[in-house]
Amino acid sequence: HTYVVIMAGGVGTRFWPFSRQSYPKQFHDVLGTGRTMLQMTYDRLAGICLPENVYVVTSLEYRDLTRQQLPELSDHQILLEPSRRNTAPCIAYASYKIASKDPEANIIVTPADHLILKEQVFLDRLKVALEATEKSDILVTLGITPTRPDTGYGYIQFDYSSTSDVKRVKTFTEKPHLELAQAFLESGDYVWNAGIFVWNARAIRQAFELHLPEMDEAFRDLTFYSNDESPSLLRAYPQCRSISIDNGIMEKAQNVYVVLSDIGWSDLGTWKSLYEVSSQDENGNVIDGHTMLQDTRGCIIKTPKERLVVIKGLENYIVAEFDNVLLVCPKDQEQKVKEFVSDAGKRG
Ligand code: GDD
Ligand code: MG
Repeated sequence: HTYVVIMAGGVGTRFWPFSRQSYPKQFHDVLGTGRTMLQMTYDRLAGICLPENVYVVTSLEYRDLTRQQLPELSDHQILLEPSRRNTAPCIAYASYKIASKDPEANIIVTPADHLILKEQVFLDRLKVALEATEKSDILVTLGITPTRPDTGYGYIQFDYSSTSDVKRVKTFTEKPHLELAQAFLESGDYVWNAGIFVWNARAIRQAFELHLPEMDEAFRDLTFYSNDESPSLLRAYPQCRSISIDNGIMEKAQNVYVVLSDIGWSDLGTWKSLYEVSSQDENGNVIDGHTMLQDTRGCIIKTPKERLVVIKGLENYIVAEFDNVLLVCPKDQEQKVKEFVSDAGKRG
């Protein structure tokens, strides 16, 4: 049987002021479609498995947001982590829980905050991966053709000569520094890791045993689906270090494969990436809000509907308002926004 695990416990500060600890990116309608990133992730995958086989893993503090946004899920499908330990414990928790019920499970793991424009192609690529993991105990990831030396991604070197749809991975490098990313980009046999994984319960448990044995130990003997998992989770989580699945397993495992996927993927990590995938008006503005604009070009404006935003003579700026924060910043300097975030955080 196929299962879907949606990871939705990250904080995503790069998208400030929308994304912040109290209300991270995955819970926002980032694209102005009427559905949040989490809901869009659920929608695109809902048909691939039985409704009761979808799980969301998130922090205890996002329980209510998750319930409100996905009323389709019953409470036992929302896995609540007692503390934030990055993606390896998140995946261990979900995988061991699913495996305890269905040792033959075939599992898709996905982030909750990505955009995928070509949904049918995406589902087709997942099916290719699922067929492979039904037959063999391998770790499969989707690979995206890189377009820039981005240091925020994992880089996968694959067997370029392989004609199979499921290609053996030679090396996996998580978040390389810039010179390395540049070299990977130029060499041509690297793709980005989309962060979307497919494996069977056996393969991922073996990987934990081998590469993160303390997490195997922490989750191996837990009783899941009991009245309340939280006391055992409170014991398990402190035994886990904070590490991503990419650093903890994907970089080390020898049985990693990639399915190249041309799926219109963007991780919407920045305002610029949101600008690039959104439709623009005749002056190249991306608008989500109530606006009157004159001589305004190349801007991205995302403001509450009830506020009329009047702008004259502005070019290539981000204008974004959420909650008690208004951000006005040149589009090409959004990296600098990070420097304000911790300051503003302290002021609430
Ligand atoms: N439940 C839970 N608990 N979810 C988490 C946690 C956690 O502690 N930490 C992160 N997540 C969720 C995030 O909300 C996101 O949906 C997903 O897990 C991935 O985490 P990110 O923190 O966004 O990872 P990343 O973007 O730095 O890197 C990953 O994604 C890249 C592609 O976007 C890696 O897999 C890279 O290799 C990959 O290229
Ligand atoms: Mg991410």
